[in-house]
Amino acid sequence: MVEQPLTISINGQTADLTAVSPITTLLHYLHQSGRTGTKEGCGDGDCGACTVAVLCSTADGTAQYQAMNSCLIPIGSVANREIITVEGLADEHLHPVQAAMVQTGGSQCGYCTPGFIMSLFAAYYGGKVDDTAVEGNLCRCTGYLPIRKAAALVTQKIAETKPCDRFTEKLAAADPALEPLQYLGHPEQFYRPAQLSEVLDLLHQHPNAKLIAGGTDLGLEISHQRQTFPVLISLEGVTDLKQIHRSETAVEIGAAVPLSQIQTELRGVFPSLDEMLFWFAACQVRNRATLGGNIGTASPIGDLPPVLLSLDAVLNLVGSQGTRRLPLVDFFKGYRQTDLQPGELIRSITVPTTLTPDAVRRDNQSYKIGKRGTDDISIVAAAFTVDLDNADRILHGRLAYGGVAAIPARAIAAEAFLLGKPWTIETVRQVKPLLQQAFTPLTDLRGSAHYRSKLVVNLFEKFFVDMSEGGDRNGHRHP
Ligand SMILES: Cc1cc2nc3c(=O)[nH]c(=O)nc-3n(C[C@H](O)[C@H](O)[C@H](O)COP(=O)(O)OP(=O)(O)OC[C@H]3O[C@@H](n4cnc5c(N)ncnc54)[C@H](O)[C@@H]3O)c2cc1C
Ligand code: FES
Ligand code: FES
Repeated sequence: MVEQPLTISINGQTADLTAVSPITTLLHYLHQSGRTGTKEGCGDGDCGACTVAVLCSTADGTAQYQAMNSCLIPIGSVANREIITVEGLADEHLHPVQAAMVQTGGSQCGYCTPGFIMSLFAAYYGGKVDDTAVEGNLCRCTGYLPIRKAAALVTQKIAETKPCDRFTEKLAAADPALEPLQYLGHPEQFYRPAQLSEVLDLLHQHPNAKLIAGGTDLGLEISHQRQTFPVLISLEGVTDLKQIHRSETAVEIGAAVPLSQIQTELRGVFPSLDEMLFWFAACQVRNRATLGGNIGTASPIGDLPPVLLSLDAVLNLVGSQGTRRLPLVDFFKGYRQTDLQPGELIRSITVPTTLTPDAVRRDNQSYKIGKRGTDDISIVAAAFTVDLDNADRILHGRLAYGGVAAIPARAIAAEAFLLGKPWTIETVRQVKPLLQQAFTPLTDLRGSAHYRSKLVVNLFEKFFVDMSEGGDRNGHRHP
């Protein structure tokens, strides 16, 4: 790995990072260096006050500004990259998104405003400004109506004239490819290799190293729990982990592909994945979070494992001993425990796209029950797949849940019962006792065990009703 000078570009000014620990959050670095326009609300990715725009590469290699939560990003992850903060927007005039917020009265105390502005800024150059652009931003005083009006004004502006200014010039000239990096000289070391073989070598040299992809889980450990990691190995620059391949029979998703890219590239392939990604966190988090991280963190309430379990996904693991394929159902071993061996990582996830032999139709959908719509942790997440023959008999069923056991899990006995049965409300009623007994959920501050058990049953019934009504669901609102 070539040693690069450690710098960061903020609003076009390059700063030296040599004296800064790689696990300092970008937000703290901004504040320490006097850039206090970016605000800290929650410090854990929930409020969006700390939103900045990071120059990133899209799937086709072009440059794009993406909104991200600076409170979750260790500065090692953005070393040698370009950041735009709220201070960089206005020249002699306000930026169009700032002007829109002023015009609609979108700000009162103003604490949330820099975050909203930066989310709108990224959306403005992405060409699409809708509610999704600001779903990760909270405001306590203005109320969302004027902010949504500001977003509508920006949309109108883009429709009238495509953005053409110093930021579009920068995008056209930028090379957003991530250079390999060694961020050393501190008690914490941060590596950003470009090759998978280098990741494996580093894991061999540093057996206690921690992998970091988007850092939306690890970032919390750094910012909230004040954890330190002596060696972090970033997967963000490893091209091999950042590809999506589609074949006749399956889709293979690289472990380090950001969820927002999966959302765009695989839209329409798996209804349950579309649905769950829509409700997953907010765009600032989806721009960084990865599938490898969601599985690797092994949370019992991770939202994507139920979706992948319902689709019979297989993990492609790689380590110093070589590669191996492991069905996801065999990966989770216990609370936050996985089958990953020392020195091993998730390279990609293969999701079959073919139906069971003799099946003519597939019903597939997912459900997330949380305290609020977006940007919330699930109380229960569920995903269902049912393959049917031409007489509507069930040839294959997968009923997968999160939030009801120590690991994301399938209701195996219920699945077995469904085989060969007609896909009718009567069958759904007959399977209910098996679903009721399938798990022994816990009570916690989000929901009681009783409530969770009810959800296990009722969500499956809802799935049947939604599918018989044409495959849609109430409140379903994909763009
Ligand atoms: C505000 C907020 C909202 C959130 N909302 C949701 C939500 O709605 N649903 C949900 O499920 N989660 C949610 N999360 C949690 C988190 O975003 C997800 O778990 C995310 O997918 C983690 O991916 P990452 O790339 O950021 O992981 P990281 O934080 O980089 O890593 C997480 C763990 O996985 C390991 N890891 C990463 N990549 C690999 C790999 N390739 N192989 C092996 N191990 C690996 C890391 O070592 C680490 O232990 C939220 C988090 C925040 C901060
Ligand atoms: S400070 Fe709230 S999301 Fe970062
Ligand atoms: S204007 Fe005060 S928090 Fe939004």
